[in-house]
Amino acid sequence: MPLVPQHIKDLIPYKAGKSIEELHKEYNPQRIVKLASNENPMGPSPKALEAMHNSLNFLNRYPNPSSIDLREALAKRFDVKIENVITGHGSEGIMSVIMRTFLLDDEEALTSEGTFIGFRVLAQSRGINLKMVPLKNYRIDLIAIAENITAKTKIIYLANPNNPTGTIFTVKEFLEFKEKVPANVLVILDEAYFEFCSGDPVYPDSMKYRLDNVITLRTYSKAYGLAGIRIGYGFAHHELINNLMKVKLPFEPSITAQVAGLAAMKDQEFLDTYLRINREGIQILYKLFEETGIKYIESYANFVTIILDSEERVNKLNNDLLKQGVIVRPLKAFGISNAIRINTGLPDEMDYFVKVFKKVF
Ligand SMILES: Cc1ncc(COP(=O)(O)O)c(C=O)c1O
Repeated sequence: MPLVPQHIKDLIPYKAGKSIEELHKEYNPQRIVKLASNENPMGPSPKALEAMHNSLNFLNRYPNPSSIDLREALAKRFDVKIENVITGHGSEGIMSVIMRTFLLDDEEALTSEGTFIGFRVLAQSRGINLKMVPLKNYRIDLIAIAENITAKTKIIYLANPNNPTGTIFTVKEFLEFKEKVPANVLVILDEAYFEFCSGDPVYPDSMKYRLDNVITLRTYSKAYGLAGIRIGYGFAHHELINNLMKVKLPFEPSITAQVAGLAAMKDQEFLDTYLRINREGIQILYKLFEETGIKYIESYANFVTIILDSEERVNKLNNDLLKQGVIVRPLKAFGISNAIRINTGLPDEMDYFVKVFKKVF
């Protein structure tokens, strides 16, 4: 296959967790509870559903290429100008546009090990050199990341809270870090889970620290239950946004995704309910792991990661759970082969998970 460049041949693609359909085929369990992809278990916001439904009559038309209504609403909500806002095909879609817009072939990207795999895949598909700094105590090590910046570093990717560890770096750590980043290095602050911890005073909500070389990415996939329609948004200096808008696909995101985002934003009741369900779910998981003597990482997101003795223990527990219809996420692909990530579910899903976990562990 001489047409395929070597870096694409070598690329290890993102592999999503096991799907409900796959589990049905494999074990056909009586009940399936999926706690593997950090999705919202409530379904989409009813307001978003209604808006999406109404949009179907207009699918013969192309979408507004600038997502004007949604960007205007986001600008108003977060107190910036519309020129500072971009929307995309999920936050990962915007990340892909960033990688196409700013990187030259001989430039490098820098991130942590044990973080969101999507960034690694995008960097490697672009054929550039990607440096990954080890986690420290399962947390992103901003000091070590700053020490690894070189003249070639162009983009630094940081997920806060981090997936799959659920940890954050603090205001103090971020303020010290930002002083060490040259102005010509772009920092992607991926805040896909910010809704789950935005009230915490130690969490550095990047919208409070507007910096010209920082792009904030956020999503409707998690807190708003819209992972399937693919809608995310980002904030940055107007010059960065202006150039990203030139490179993005003209009609991304779709009409249905744009109206879903707009309606979901107005559904505060839905968001509040989910945040409460999530807080309760996190406490249920902590209690379960304390009772069963399992090491877990304290989480600022909608999932908890547990640490077991070995990869074998992970595989056995995972298989035993699957047979009972519970899907969780072993973290080998994230580079933490002795860990499993479990997201929170609805109250009766949590009851089922606790029952099954106690039985198989
Ligand atoms: C840290 C992080 N960023 C981005 C994403 C992808 O979000 P989206 O669905 O908006 O592309 C995920 C999804 O798991 C994530 O965990």
